[in-house]
Amino acid sequence: LNVKSFYMGGGTPTTLTADQMDRLLSKLEQNFDFGNLAELTIEAGRPDTIDEEKLRVLRAHNTTRVSINPQTMEDNVLAAIGRRHTADDIRRAMEQVRAAGFPHVNMDLIAGLPEDRVELVVGDICDADLLDRIVPGHDAIVHYAAESHNDNSIADPEPFLRTNVEGTFRLLEAVRKYGIRYHHVSTDEVYGDLALDDPAKFTEHTPYHPSSPYSSTKAASDMLVRAWTRTYGIHATISNCSNNYGPFQHVEKFIPRQITNILDGQRPKLYGKGLNVRDWIHTEDHSSGVWTILTKGRVGETYLIGADGERNNITVLRMILKMMGQAEDAFDWVKDRPGHDRRYAIDSTRLRTELGWTPRHTDFESGLAQTIEWYTENRAWWEPAKAATEERYKRQGQ
Ligand code: TYD
Repeated sequence: LNVKSFYMGGGTPTTLTADQMDRLLSKLEQNFDFGNLAELTIEAGRPDTIDEEKLRVLRAHNTTRVSINPQTMEDNVLAAIGRRHTADDIRRAMEQVRAAGFPHVNMDLIAGLPEDRVELVVGDICDADLLDRIVPGHDAIVHYAAESHNDNSIADPEPFLRTNVEGTFRLLEAVRKYGIRYHHVSTDEVYGDLALDDPAKFTEHTPYHPSSPYSSTKAASDMLVRAWTRTYGIHATISNCSNNYGPFQHVEKFIPRQITNILDGQRPKLYGKGLNVRDWIHTEDHSSGVWTILTKGRVGETYLIGADGERNNITVLRMILKMMGQAEDAFDWVKDRPGHDRRYAIDSTRLRTELGWTPRHTDFESGLAQTIEWYTENRAWWEPAKAATEERYKRQGQ
């Protein structure tokens, strides 16, 4: 059995050292019978759970690879894989796994950052004891740790309730207890959608009107932050950002999915009629917006982050096809997303005028070209998640 990779939430890869990998593997193998499975990907933040039925199907297809989520590993994945073990055995084994390298893992991705100032803690956001250990002493918490993909929330909403709602509640409680500045990263999707022919954009005053399981859990978490600010006086700000693109984005999202499909010799997939509009912002501009709000924003306020990047999906897909030397029509029309939001658009005037923020990546075409280049050069980063992601989409007819 080869443990391929370890992922933390948001698709950011956490590469274990060879030594940590060996120890993890030997603990897993001592405790569980992996049968004919040859390759294991552990991905946090995936809604994927594996039950006995799914495992039976995988085996019947002679599947050698399986993706699992460490959060569900204890409760059902390992229980299903190593059926001769009780839940207590599994919990004990997980303790050993943690002792063999979790939850403190230094990852390659943060190589280059000053080691004495950066520590990666792999853990569960809902684990109040863990938060009690790691939260005190910090100047601020910036909460990015959400389940963030609509299609996953439609397939299985439960992890979204747990991570986005309960996870935010746990963080807020820790912030209240230890008196720490808190910034909450959210989405423009809490406002629902706009009509395609409506010139209006979302502002800080737009009423909440979420449509998907994902956006409703983000709306709920925003409400918790507002309530904790008013009731307990925590020092919090909220940002609601539009669709991000750029390097290091999970291959399940629209732009990286199409780029990596082409790199893999597969056809891109477009939902519905391709006319839905998204307001694209480069991930670095999102980060600079968050930093501006954290350092200059008024406590208790909400700021919208957007870079005036509205385009419909078919336009973006045709740009990708052209830049990658493909024919304009070299893609598949696939089943539309249920409840598919029509259009998002952000008015970021408050952030620009009050805090003086401006986006740097205003040329979408060159940002997209750089993104294509990044995925072309960093195959080893995205490849481990690609097959399982496409398999999941295929099951949904997408
Ligand atoms: P996505 O990246 O999932 O972001 P969000 O749901 O937050 O907007 O999707 C962006 C748009 O692209 C959305 O309108 C759905 C559409 N889409 C496709 O047409 N094909 C795809 O394969 C994916 C993943 C999304």
